[in-house]
Amino acid sequence: MSPGGSVQVIGITQRFGGLTAVDDVHVAIPAGAIHGIIGPNGAGKTTLLNIISGLQRPTSGTVQVGEHQITGWPGHRLVTKARMVRTFQTVRLFGSMTVQQNIEIAAGTVHRGRQQRDRRTAEVIAELGLESHAADPATSLSYGLQRQVELARVLVADPLVVLLDEPAAGLSPTERHDLAQTLRVMNGRGITVVLVEHHMDLVHAVCQTCTVLDFGAVISSGTPQEVTRDPAVLEAYLGGSHHAVADDLVIESADERVADERVADERVADEQVGEQ
Ligand SMILES: Nc1ncnc2c1ncn2[C@@H]1O[C@H](COP(=O)(O)OP(=O)(O)OP(=O)(O)O)[C@@H](O)[C@H]1O
Ligand SMILES: [Mg+2]
Repeated sequence: MSPGGSVQVIGITQRFGGLTAVDDVHVAIPAGAIHGIIGPNGAGKTTLLNIISGLQRPTSGTVQVGEHQITGWPGHRLVTKARMVRTFQTVRLFGSMTVQQNIEIAAGTVHRGRQQRDRRTAEVIAELGLESHAADPATSLSYGLQRQVELARVLVADPLVVLLDEPAAGLSPTERHDLAQTLRVMNGRGITVVLVEHHMDLVHAVCQTCTVLDFGAVISSGTPQEVTRDPAVLEAYLGGSHHAVADDLVIESADERVADERVADERVADEQVGEQ
């Protein structure tokens, strides 16, 4: 297994004015692992992912990927040198471009020659079963397929580390099952996956280890089984009623938000169509 994909988060703190969104977080993820970052809404998961991916400069602390101390690196260098790629909490595709064009652009960030870029694009389209949609505009696809295109954009960059912010939000159970399969394929290739996720079924299915954040601080870490039995985690999710973590409760909070976002997205899309 290549050591290139290990991720070390060392004492990261992020303050926004008086709010400490991430509070002295340490996480050590070995190369090739799938590591979950979980925690209630507002716990600091996305902020931590933004810092690891270089989008945000932390108030203090460092991030190491493989042998590289990457804090402060520009985004393109993270992709080309640290080989780290991310997705966002909401789908971000070039809506008017086709599925194939969206994937080609991502391929072009790391594959310089046109031949290699086109070959990897075709391979990933086939691998994720997107052939019949390759010529469709990205926004014409179902939400689940748009998420698949995002994963195709990640895979085509041949990353060592992949950061995913709630990739299962808004997906049906069948789509979540397909996503788990894709994550296992990534894992089988030795790619390190950092998975921010509310869906505990997915975390249990694919993560070897996870870190639980609450109010920015690490409150538990270990295997998914260990953390979901940890009284500190139960307290954070359920306010102290010490039952098994209620997956449904957690899933609902994430999906309600996605449902709201999708309504908003559809409204924007309708407005854009109206403007044309
Ligand atoms: N740019 C910012 N400026 C000020 N406060 C911020 C900023 N970004 C995040 N926050 C705050 O930091 C805290 C952590 O937010 P973050 O989005 O990281 O949480 P999260 O765990 O990803 O939540 P969710 O599960 O809802 O996605 C929240 O209180 C949020 O309001
Ligand atoms: Mg978030």
